[in-house]
Amino acid sequence: MPDLHGSCKCLFAGKGVLLVRQQKLKLCALFSKRLEVAVTKTFYAETGMGKNTPPGDVKLVRENIAHKSIVLVGLMGAGKTTIGRRVAQKLNLDFVDADHEIERAADMSVAEIFEKHGEKAFRDGERRVIARLLENGPQVLATGGGAYMDEQTRKAIGQNGICIWLDCKHSLLMKRVRRRSTRPLLQTADPDQTMRDLMDERYPVYAKADIRVESRDVPHNAIVNDVIAALAGFLDPNSTKAEQ
Ligand code: S3P
Repeated sequence: MPDLHGSCKCLFAGKGVLLVRQQKLKLCALFSKRLEVAVTKTFYAETGMGKNTPPGDVKLVRENIAHKSIVLVGLMGAGKTTIGRRVAQKLNLDFVDADHEIERAADMSVAEIFEKHGEKAFRDGERRVIARLLENGPQVLATGGGAYMDEQTRKAIGQNGICIWLDCKHSLLMKRVRRRSTRPLLQTADPDQTMRDLMDERYPVYAKADIRVESRDVPHNAIVNDVIAALAGFLDPNSTKAEQ
């Protein structure tokens, strides 16, 4: 015959444990909900994801851009084409990629031009194509990483464009360029070091751009918003920056 009293005691004890467990679960659920909200808020604040570009910024840029091109410069992997295309979409402007235009004009890929004709021929073509493209503003123009190193091209951009340097850390550049092996300058024994050398050589020159925006490892939308906000600040007729 089972011990009823004992069984009840067990049952109640078990229920008690269950109740405590339920309370704990409720508390956990509450805590994790709060944690989730906090994490989501931080994520949105950090990444800018889900945030729309302020329409005021878009309007200001469109009203003050005149015939100028928005020219993106920076190292390979900085995101010039990806960001440029999206900036153009938001501003309802045409987008053009200088490398793509060079390839079209030569009917060859950049790698083939380097291989068959050498870097000097590529740079000459690059200078000519960018000069021609700059006549078509307003638009967004993404340039190849070496274009802004050319003094004549820098001058042409200065006269016909607003130059934005997409500044980017070495680790992120490498993470991105590793995805494609089509860049002739990185076909070296030590691409990591090559990229560092290019940074040393080029960053002081890229720093001459009108605007610097950091290209971070966050959703593109965040960088696009940063670019448009920086442009709005630069073009704002009431801002002191615009007079510089
Ligand atoms: C170059 C960058 C490339 C391309 C060419 C040379 C450079 O363009 O123009 O391979 O000198 O940095 P991306 O910056 O678009 O990769």
